[in-house]
Amino acid sequence: MAQLVQQYLDRILAEHAGVSDGVLADYIPELAGVDPEGFALSLSSADGHVYETGSTAVEFTIQSISKPFTYALALDSLGQAAVDARIGVEPSGEAFNEISVDKTSKTPKNPMINAGAIAAASLVPGATADERFDALHDFYSGFAGRRLELDHDVYASEKATGNRNRAIAYMLASFGVLEGDPDEALDVYFRQCSLKVTSTDLARMAVTLARGGVNPATGRRVTNAAVVKRTLSVMVTCGMYDAAGDWVSAVGMPAKSGVGGGIVAVLPGQLGIGTYSPRLDAKGNSVRGVRVCRSLSEQLGLHFLSVARDSRATLRAVYEPRDNVRVYETHGDLLFSGAELLVRTVDRDRGRFEVAILDVSRVDDIDDAARSMLSGMSAELRSQNKVGYLVDPDGIVIRTGSDFEQVRYLCVDDAVEAAEQALRRGFAG
Ligand code: DON
Repeated sequence: MAQLVQQYLDRILAEHAGVSDGVLADYIPELAGVDPEGFALSLSSADGHVYETGSTAVEFTIQSISKPFTYALALDSLGQAAVDARIGVEPSGEAFNEISVDKTSKTPKNPMINAGAIAAASLVPGATADERFDALHDFYSGFAGRRLELDHDVYASEKATGNRNRAIAYMLASFGVLEGDPDEALDVYFRQCSLKVTSTDLARMAVTLARGGVNPATGRRVTNAAVVKRTLSVMVTCGMYDAAGDWVSAVGMPAKSGVGGGIVAVLPGQLGIGTYSPRLDAKGNSVRGVRVCRSLSEQLGLHFLSVARDSRATLRAVYEPRDNVRVYETHGDLLFSGAELLVRTVDRDRGRFEVAILDVSRVDDIDDAARSMLSGMSAELRSQNKVGYLVDPDGIVIRTGSDFEQVRYLCVDDAVEAAEQALRRGFAG
């Protein structure tokens, strides 16, 4: 069956293979010397299964795709407040290498342009550039699930030709934004851009973000969910440079591109995509990479704002096994919107039962918002001289202190029987 997905991805790649628009990045000779025909697509499922098609063994430099990962490491190491004091989160509407800061705060507008990325590199803890790079190298490798290597030639070229980045770093130092020596921050930045990846590395890095910081292939937690949330947010608004608006409406996945020809795209909770094709459009994004992601999103319904399910799906069935007893059967993920619908439905029905039985035995996941709403519902029923019973065999709702604690059942039949007995006793909530 998995062959169906493989064949589909092979077809998508073949459909775009003939596209030859765009040009290789040529600001350093190493980038202009790559095979322009290299073309690869990798997709990792949430459980870490990777599909690959095209030249997925070809290594290329990660370039600006490094930026979200360094930003994530800065957040992970220092916390959001300290990072926010140095780097903004607003789209800049300028070229990625613009020598600019926010007019009022004098800080880089976001971490996806060079100014913000160099500032983020300076925030990575370490006594020397080597120590900072090592931390960053380990961090990226944790996302990829393998040790990434440095392209020494690209690194040397970045360093030799990086005067514009030097101008940015020294400007930031003059505003007190950079931590430590600007040349050290630049050195870390040049090295991070020169790490080599394949499209499959990018898919694995993407899916680690999609999984809230856990690499599903290695099982290792690389960072926490709050860091991932912030990083993905900035990727949505600033990841594709000036094309961010077009990308979000057409593709709808947090993403980041690099002049090496890579694109990383994340569908939170679901999958990670890595593409490689080195010919770039005028905005610096891989032409075929953008087209492939567009096709995948349209054909597989991957846009993160597509309204795939509504909260009614949470409520599977409502029935009355006995007079005055009403069962509410739920399934899927019980999150705020589903819990809200449930609470409102029970409230609407309150003239029709004495005992409400809430069956969560088919619920896959529940969050704290839904949990506290269910507790609130139980208290609310008691205040109306009614009672709520919970069928929760796996204990997903019950936690210490939950209002449902004393009335948890393993199956609906037990709960119905208990309700009958209570009603026979002339029970009043
Ligand atoms: O800062 C630079 O010039 C490069 N090392 C990174 C550039 C990059 O990938 C920008 N984006 N597309």
